[in-house]
Amino acid sequence: MCGIVGYLGSRDAFPILIKGLKRLEYRGYDSAGVALISQTNHLNVYKVKGKVSGLEQVTEREDTSGTIGIAHTRWATHGEPSQVNAHPHVSASGQLALIHNGIIENYNVLKEKLEKKGYTFKSSTDTEVLVQLIDYIKESGKLDLLTAVRLALREVIGAYALAILDHNDPDQIIVARKSSPLVIGIGENEFFIASDATPIVEFTDKVVYLEDEDIAILRRGEPLKVVDFSNVELNLEVQTIELNLGQLEKGGYPHFMLKEIVEQPDCIQDCMRGRLHVEDNNVILSAIIDHKEKLIHAKRFIIIACGTSWHAGLIGRQLIENYCRIPVQVEYASEFRYSNPVVGEGDVVIAISQSGETADTLAAVELARNRGAFIYGICNAVGSSIPRSTDTGSYIHVGPEIGVASTKAFTGQVTVLAMLALTLATVKGSISESELKEILEEFQAIPEKMKKALETNDQIASLSKIFTYARNFIYLGRGYNYPVALEGALKLKEISYIHAEGYPAAEMKHGPIALIDTEMPVVVIATQNSLYEKLLSNVQEIKARKGRVIAIVSEGDDTISKIADYCIELPKTVEPLDPLLTTIPLQLMAYHIAVCKGKDVDQPRNLAKSVTVE
Ligand code: G6P
Repeated sequence: MCGIVGYLGSRDAFPILIKGLKRLEYRGYDSAGVALISQTNHLNVYKVKGKVSGLEQVTEREDTSGTIGIAHTRWATHGEPSQVNAHPHVSASGQLALIHNGIIENYNVLKEKLEKKGYTFKSSTDTEVLVQLIDYIKESGKLDLLTAVRLALREVIGAYALAILDHNDPDQIIVARKSSPLVIGIGENEFFIASDATPIVEFTDKVVYLEDEDIAILRRGEPLKVVDFSNVELNLEVQTIELNLGQLEKGGYPHFMLKEIVEQPDCIQDCMRGRLHVEDNNVILSAIIDHKEKLIHAKRFIIIACGTSWHAGLIGRQLIENYCRIPVQVEYASEFRYSNPVVGEGDVVIAISQSGETADTLAAVELARNRGAFIYGICNAVGSSIPRSTDTGSYIHVGPEIGVASTKAFTGQVTVLAMLALTLATVKGSISESELKEILEEFQAIPEKMKKALETNDQIASLSKIFTYARNFIYLGRGYNYPVALEGALKLKEISYIHAEGYPAAEMKHGPIALIDTEMPVVVIATQNSLYEKLLSNVQEIKARKGRVIAIVSEGDDTISKIADYCIELPKTVEPLDPLLTTIPLQLMAYHIAVCKGKDVDQPRNLAKSVTVE
């Protein structure tokens, strides 16, 4: 949440900062701001409520010169979205400008202390408290900025990624991190700072990911230096990023979300590459092989995740229990971490997170690890915090996901979970050769079948026009498609703001059926599988109450398709892999309805892609 960008070098900082903010806008977009030390040595700070494009407009006629600057795009936590609450925040001395991502939990205590010293506050943010604290320590102790930052951070409780510059020292930016990601790009005599590598990739592929409680000193003409709170210099691990620029652009699509939906067949292919060996009747997730004894003998698996990743986890449970016969429970990370959970040695925790930065998931991982569980991460963002704090894991390799509503990450997570279950079942001996052969052959065919599922796009676009003004939606599914129903409802809510509920189809009778009337669209996932007859009964129950049924069925369906009002046909596959296909029309439907309603598909209101606060 919140995007941080910084630049120090010999180029004009402003265009680099603006471009970087736009790349990070998915992290938060309710206000934006920039601080630059100009060629004429002025500290210029510009801030707006709203998006980065607004910041560009207000700075059109302003002095945006300078080769050092920091910039921020905000997702409000303390204080409403407004110009005054936007970052950067400037200290009372007028010399320091600070941007910050995270939450300073003890900001009230610190604020009271500073008020007693005569400090006043313009904004309602915790960030302004932080910059004044650093200012106070610096001015009262006549200290240099680094020492003041080190001392201030010792007093701070909470999470932060921050960057600060001092008007009196136009050759230095200081950055620090705790529980909130920060990456430094190293170019030729220049540095880039960002919340993730996406703004950096077009300038350099050499990066350093800061660790918790690292403080980095970026000084013109000098190599990068990182110290701890006691000023002890730390070793740097310079890594090479593998992102390419094309992955960060819309590539001709009107929205990132559509691009990401459409690229799923290729993403799944990338995810399976080198892991699925149909010719040898084998699937290998190396992390499973490396830790097979621990995993086979696990008492149970606990899957922890949030949002869409939690839905993938529900499918993961069915896959692992079905193929490996190991009990699995699926927990919301935010509930797990505060529930004093019974977890310890012998448990395997699988943490699923696209961004690898979700604060609740990270905290749940830490809790489980401290209690002795073995931690397996399933993430997309390479080098992010969760994979770095796990014992082992598998990346989903679907490339950067920019649209706030998660699409390709979900299918990537389900793909990895299926490969995990099959690898483990193979080493455990709980799957027969013939059953493995059948599912692997189907697995290999999934990207092509996804392409066919994507061919429903035009039909769904027309259908979406009919339902644009629906006020509610119900999504029903059973078995492996029950989590898909939850995910379909979540997608619609997130981007079109239509209220939607996902339910296991049989639960409908226990409440939601009361909502059904001629106004209520009900999406029923009723592909050919072992529960088809049960879903047929559910569809009949809805039709008997005049609900409008949109059925997702298998090609050639001749029963439910006759009763439903609208039908979307998908290729057939084996039941455990069905979610990889049934998800697609639901993603497309949410997308097209949001487009018809004129909503901001990629940056829906109030949401953020990477939820780094709890
Ligand atoms: C946010 C995003 C969702 C995502 C959830 C979990 O709410 O908007 O799309 O599913 O966080 O994020 P993670 O990165 O941990 O998968």
